[in-house]
Amino acid sequence: MTRSDMAWTAQILTLFPEMFPGPLGASLAGKALKQGLWCIETLDIREFAGNKHRAVDDTPAGGGPGMVMRVDVLARAIDAARKKARDEWPLVCLSPRGKVFDQAMAKAWKEKGGVTLICGRFEGVDERIFEAREVEEVSIGDYVLSGGEPAAIAVLDAVIRLLPGVVGDPEVLKEESFEEGLLEYPHYTRPRVWEQREIPEILLSGDHKKIAEWRRKKAEELTKDRRADLWGKRDGPDGKEGTK
Ligand code: ADE
Repeated sequence: MTRSDMAWTAQILTLFPEMFPGPLGASLAGKALKQGLWCIETLDIREFAGNKHRAVDDTPAGGGPGMVMRVDVLARAIDAARKKARDEWPLVCLSPRGKVFDQAMAKAWKEKGGVTLICGRFEGVDERIFEAREVEEVSIGDYVLSGGEPAAIAVLDAVIRLLPGVVGDPEVLKEESFEEGLLEYPHYTRPRVWEQREIPEILLSGDHKKIAEWRRKKAEELTKDRRADLWGKRDGPDGKEGTK
């Protein structure tokens, strides 16, 4: 198999390789992994320490609390990973300082055929690595995790479910949240009445045009109500930005 027709690949640089595949070994992603629809390569950053004590971190220049991941160790790990990667695979460090991951990024990464993810630990990573190896920082939201590993699992899950053959019915992907910049409409199933709560009448009418209109309206209301940021970014009916 050549590199171009190999399965979508997640390369992960971490101090905790035992965290992978973790939840990605179960359910939809796990089944797809077993089927060879994607593959995972973990590299243990500690293997690249190259010193007697296998130290991967050191105290911050200028003082202060915590430890910083060493640039020389990380560079060796990145260089080893990238030798096995294709140039178009994004090279990303998970960090709360990064650009926030979204569905558009998931789609873009899917198209690239793979990704190299660096999971930071300690207080951070020596800043020089970002420019020297053109590493992009990506966050999964405005909160601080104990390391990049859970964030890597989250972003990978978002990409893997987009790969062909992973989700049984690809129609599901067309109607979900963030398609057309909207949150997804509400869902119902049997029983028709539960604790005096009924399924909205329109959904039982069989009128597909009316149902589509109702769903659209609900999706818009939810988005306006919960996510003013998304609502403001949408293209209006006349193609102009925002329909507040
Ligand atoms: N590492 C620690 N916190 C993170 C976050 N919010 N996103 C990505 N990586 C992280």
